[in-house]
Amino acid sequence: MNRKASLKIFETPLILAEAFAKEFKIICDEFILKNGFVNVALSGGNTPKLLFEILAKNYISSIDWKRINFYWVDERCVNAESNESNYGETERILFSKINIQNNIHRITGENNPEEEALRYSGLLKSNLPEINNFPKFDIVLLGMGDDGHTASIFPDQLNLLESDKICEVAVHPSSGQKRITLTGKVINNSEKIIFLITGKSKAEVIKDIFENKNESDRFPAAHIKSTEGEVIWYLDEEAGSLLNQKF
Ligand code: 6PG
Repeated sequence: MNRKASLKIFETPLILAEAFAKEFKIICDEFILKNGFVNVALSGGNTPKLLFEILAKNYISSIDWKRINFYWVDERCVNAESNESNYGETERILFSKINIQNNIHRITGENNPEEEALRYSGLLKSNLPEINNFPKFDIVLLGMGDDGHTASIFPDQLNLLESDKICEVAVHPSSGQKRITLTGKVINNSEKIIFLITGKSKAEVIKDIFENKNESDRFPAAHIKSTEGEVIWYLDEEAGSLLNQKF
């Protein structure tokens, strides 16, 4: 059951990132006012980097960073120094500009993958509130690959959507790179699930997810439906270019 899903389309990746940065502050302020803190899970890849740059440039003093607990949706099994590291890139672009350390909970990509999936699962279980027998994030930021993967749940590993574990070890289908990922049930257990998707290479999958639903079950991103809150799709015009319905 998807309580609520909405779609917003922006002219360019920059306009999208600026709009979402503003929304991110609003949503964080609401959770901080209500609970005193906010639990956020970040994705990696290229799309969020523009958002992190805008947050680092314009929001250092206007967001209460010390009250945001940062986690990751997924991480590549590499050292933090690697430019492949989702944590490493977020640290380089954003966290290095803000003086916060103890509310950043990275997935330790350099650890043994199976052991790290267990360790991170235990961390989430002890740090986050639990509903539906799974940890609950307030905000989860997702991207989507041009194969319809999200987090590190790839089309050839759809079982990770239904896993009863909190984190699992995934394998990138072409590079063979191991990754630690949240499972679909944890992602869907979140209150605000926000996709940030840009670029023409995503347009075909977006069209199938929104307008050819019987074609879209093979895409992991199509299975992201919040059981507790809402899914908001932020697209740029290129990613939304094949949609018939105009938003
Ligand atoms: C990762 C991400 C992954 C990403 C998509 C989209 O670790 O790579 O979590 O799910 O969001 O691959 O990546 P782009 O933003 O680079 O298109």
